[in-house]
Amino acid sequence: MKISLKDNVILLTGGSRGIGAGIAEALGECGATVAIHYRNSEESARELAQKIGNGSKAFQADLQIPEACKNLFTRVKETYGKVDSLINNAGIALEMDEEGEFETWLKAWQQTLQVNLLASAILSREAIGHFKQNGGGRIVFVSSRAAFRGDTTEFMAYAASKGGMVALHRSIARGLGKDNIKSFLVAPGFIQTDMAQQFIDQYGEEYVIDDLALNELTQPKDLAPTICFLVSGFMDHATGCSIDVNAGSYVH
Ligand SMILES: NC(=O)c1ccc[n+]([C@@H]2O[C@H](COP(=O)([O-])OP(=O)(O)OC[C@H]3O[C@@H](n4cnc5c(N)ncnc54)[C@H](O)[C@@H]3O)[C@@H](O)[C@H]2O)c1
Repeated sequence: MKISLKDNVILLTGGSRGIGAGIAEALGECGATVAIHYRNSEESARELAQKIGNGSKAFQADLQIPEACKNLFTRVKETYGKVDSLINNAGIALEMDEEGEFETWLKAWQQTLQVNLLASAILSREAIGHFKQNGGGRIVFVSSRAAFRGDTTEFMAYAASKGGMVALHRSIARGLGKDNIKSFLVAPGFIQTDMAQQFIDQYGEEYVIDDLALNELTQPKDLAPTICFLVSGFMDHATGCSIDVNAGSYVH
């Protein structure tokens, strides 16, 4: 059995760094054409697209703007003529003070829900419309362990946004399977990226490793093969599933 994603066009959000860059490289190794979405890092996104090859290209969009999410899907579809899979990976983890000033608290909640949940919903909506006309497709949500385990009070909005992704993903899987649309969700634990670094800096690597069943921190390359498998077609009968990649830190 060999995973081949040749002739597959895959839109990957937040693909220029961290987990996204790991996923992009792995998809490229499997032969996929990756539409690497980025917000600010044009240079790294373009370099990565070039490194991957297979006609991969970089696409800019600020996912805080609903219209920009919609336009992103359209641009990718028009560039390649089709999209086979969408991977909702981009996300933010804003720390907030539950007892802080109301306006600041509200803004952080709105921003978190917009980028993590609403942008994924808009992109999924566009993908579903296209997949229905194109014979089907696959969506992968990069959620979080926090969706199932909960998070600290400073990251309640983050956990809620990732929990929302779970319900969205399951609804797509249950409601659109007959249209040949499959939905999958991965729930990473702690992955060593820029996002996680702020926590490591604050508490130290040892503290983080103590929380794991394994002896080492998870890297983007430890998650990426799962995503390749999910978009390959080999996992289609697992549509609706959620896969934990958390180094045994939360088993449920
Ligand atoms: N690193 C972890 O420990 C961890 C754990 C669980 C889940 N996750 C999830 O994995 C995904 C990737 O995280 P990461 O660790 O690689 O983080 P990261 O901060 O390195 O990358 C996040 C990506 O999202 C993009 N992004 C953020 N805001 C955006 C916006 N407004 N518009 C467009 N793009 C935007 C960034 O440009 C970046 O490419 C996120 O959804 C995150 O919640 C990460």
